[in-house]
This record gives sequence, C-alpha cells and structure tokens, in this order.
Amino acid sequence: MRKGNAMSCPQRRVLPGLDREVSAIGAGCWTLGGPARNNGVSIGWDDVDPEAAYAALVHAHELGITLFDTADVYGLGHSERLLGRLLRQVDRNHLVISSKVGYFAGTGPHPYHPRQVTHQLATTLDNLGTDHLDIYFLHSDDFGENDHYLPEVLELFARWRVQGVIRAVGMRAPHFFAEQWAVGDDDRARQARRFLRLFHAFRPEVLTVRYNLLSPLYGPDETDIFTFARQHGAGVLIKQVLGQGLLIRELGTERPQTFSVDDHRCGDPRFSQQALRRLAERLAPLRARYGTSTAALARVALRYALQHAPDAVVLVGFRDPEQIHTTLTCLGVPLTDDEIAEIRAIPHPHPHPHSLEGDQ
Ligand SMILES: NC(=O)c1ccc[n+]([C@@H]2O[C@H](COP(=O)([O-])OP(=O)(O)OC[C@H]3O[C@@H](n4cnc5c(N)ncnc54)[C@H](OP(=O)(O)O)[C@@H]3O)[C@@H](O)[C@H]2O)c1
Repeated sequence: MRKGNAMSCPQRRVLPGLDREVSAIGAGCWTLGGPARNNGVSIGWDDVDPEAAYAALVHAHELGITLFDTADVYGLGHSERLLGRLLRQVDRNHLVISSKVGYFAGTGPHPYHPRQVTHQLATTLDNLGTDHLDIYFLHSDDFGENDHYLPEVLELFARWRVQGVIRAVGMRAPHFFAEQWAVGDDDRARQARRFLRLFHAFRPEVLTVRYNLLSPLYGPDETDIFTFARQHGAGVLIKQVLGQGLLIRELGTERPQTFSVDDHRCGDPRFSQQALRRLAERLAPLRARYGTSTAALARVALRYALQHAPDAVVLVGFRDPEQIHTTLTCLGVPLTDDEIAEIRAIPHPHPHPHSLEGDQ
C-alpha cells in the first residue's frame, strides 16, 4: 500500500486538545457502515458496497487523510471492522482514530450501563485491531433517569485515560449554542445548561459540532461553540459540512431519492420534497455564482468551514473512492472575504432549537 501523499491533502493542522498534527479534512466513516437500525431507529445509509467502501478508505489514506472517525453503531460494527482492515495495512501510530459509545444497549438496560460501556470499548478495540483510541466520544447525552449512569461512566473514562486505552475524550456539542443562553428557562437555555454541565464533568479534549454554509450566524456578544472550545483548549471536529450531500448536488432537477427504513434519512424532514425545494431556492445564488458541478460546490462548502475555524478538522462522509477523491481534490484557492460575505447574506436560520427545519 502506498504511503499517504501530503501533496493531495495539503492542509494540516494541530488539533487543540490532542496537540497532534492531523489532516485538516478527516474521514467520517458513518456512511461506510451501510444500512442499519438500532433499537428501532434508522441509523444507516442505503446501498453501500463494502468493497467500494474499503477502497474509499484506502484512497483516503493515500490522499493524506490522517484522522478517521467511526462509532460502534455505524453499521453496527461494520464501519469499525472496515477501518480495522485498513489499520492492519498501514502504520497505525501515524493516524488519529476516533470512535464512540452511548447508543447501543444490546440486551442490557441502558447503553451507558457500565457493563455495556466496558463491552462496547472492548468490541471497538477488537474491531479496529488496536490497543487504544486517540479519541473516545460520548455519542449520546442520555445517561438514564436522573443521570443514573453518569458517575460510573465518568469513573470508567477516567480509568481508561490513566491506562492510556483512550488518549482523549470527545463530546458532541448542541447544533445551536451560545454560552450566554444558559441563563433562562426555555429549551435553548436548558440545552445549553445540559451541555455545560456535561462539559465540566467530563472535561473533553475534543467536541463535534454541526456546521456548514447554512448554519446560524451568531452575534458579537455570543460565545459560540468554536470560541467556547478555544477558550477551554478543546479541539473541534466539524460534521455535516456537505449537508449530508444536499449542499453539493444540483437540487430539484433529479428524481426524489427514496430511502429504506435502514437509512437515517427516511424520516428526516430535511430530505422531504418541500424542504428540498426551499433549499434549492436558498442556494440559488450560490449555484448561479459557482455552477452546479459537485467539485465546485464541495470546494465552497469545505472552504467555508475550513476558513471559519482555522484550528478545527472538517469531517467528510463518503461511500466510494470517487466521492472521497472529489472531496479531497476540489479545494482550489481559498474563498475571498467578499465571497464569504455573499454566503453569509443567504438567509440563515435563527439560532434556536425549534428552527431545526431551516438548518442543514
Ligand atoms: N451527522 C452526524 O450527526 C454526525 C455525528 C457524529 C459524527 N459525525 C461524523 O461526521 C461524518 C460526516 O458525515 P455527515 O453526516 O457530516 O455527512 P456529510 O459529510 O455532510 O455528507 C456525506 C454524504 O454526502 C454525500 N457525498 C459525499 N461526497 C460526495 C460527492 N463527491 N458527490 C456526491 N455526494 C457526495 C454522500 O451521501 P450519498 O452518496 O448517500 O448521497 C455522503 O455520505 C460522519 O461520517 C461521522 O464520522 C456525524
């Protein structure tokens, strides 16, 4: 297998929290897991060919990607096993590997029951064929009634950190967050307080956050998640930069996609015909300026996120070598300040939990 070629994925960044240099674009391995359901909830992606998925992972590595993000529930272990196949072929120590726990309960009473969490970590390490994780994410913030399992999970994570089995802890941030919102009595305040409580309990080194061209814009007096992370020395992994594909496609001309019950998009209102029509209208100025080729649109989407957060890593999902090739070779020149201002002039959603529909 060829060694990673830094020329193909030129940008590298030191991720705060880890203090390690990684590729500015990381491989999001959720899609590669294929169709899946967990506890009756659709959590997968349709029509993923395992060999194309593996070839895509190999290609991502060849193009210089050094950060790979997976989870125990992505394809119910399938994504981790595919990544494990790659790790057996390359120098694992040059890579940052992240996985997650918190959604899979098996036959136990709760995903965060200490027995379950211990079992999931052992399975994850086995699937990946490694003795440690560079980042271990708390995938869910549901620790049972009255946070019943929280103290035990805290203790387990602390022990694993000391043992070096996990090198850093990760936590997901709310889609909408400003630290100032924590004072108040509405959903937004409760969500912010919940996040802050868990953040101060676990002291994660890394956060994941949804951010893309259509994410809310925050005021100068609001401490958004990027500023918050910086103030606390935490690194950020950005997800949904491509809007799960919607921001880089020509919308409205193709036949509507239909999804099986094993694809998480089957019940997602963002993929309804009505939402896609509205999205096409909002994105029309971008299509008019940049055209409709996937590469041109992916460049704008990726550059927007990379320039907004120069110390964060952008995760991209993909299902085959062609997709990851396009994403990693489209970057071109940075966006100018005028181009960024034009993007910010597109109607953006109000940053509130109830305005989820308008957000991608
Ligand atoms: N979303 C979350 O809640 C979440 C949470 C935690 C972590 N993550 C991480 O973030 C990673 C990224 O996933 P995401 O959900 O944020 O999605 P994303 O990267 O915004 O979109 C990925 C999807 O876009 C489509 N796509 C990618 N390249 C393309 C190309 N060149 N041409 C056409 N379509 C293309 C593919 O979908 P189709 O081919 O099916 O259209 C692909 O699965 C995940 O893999 C995971 O590691 C995500």
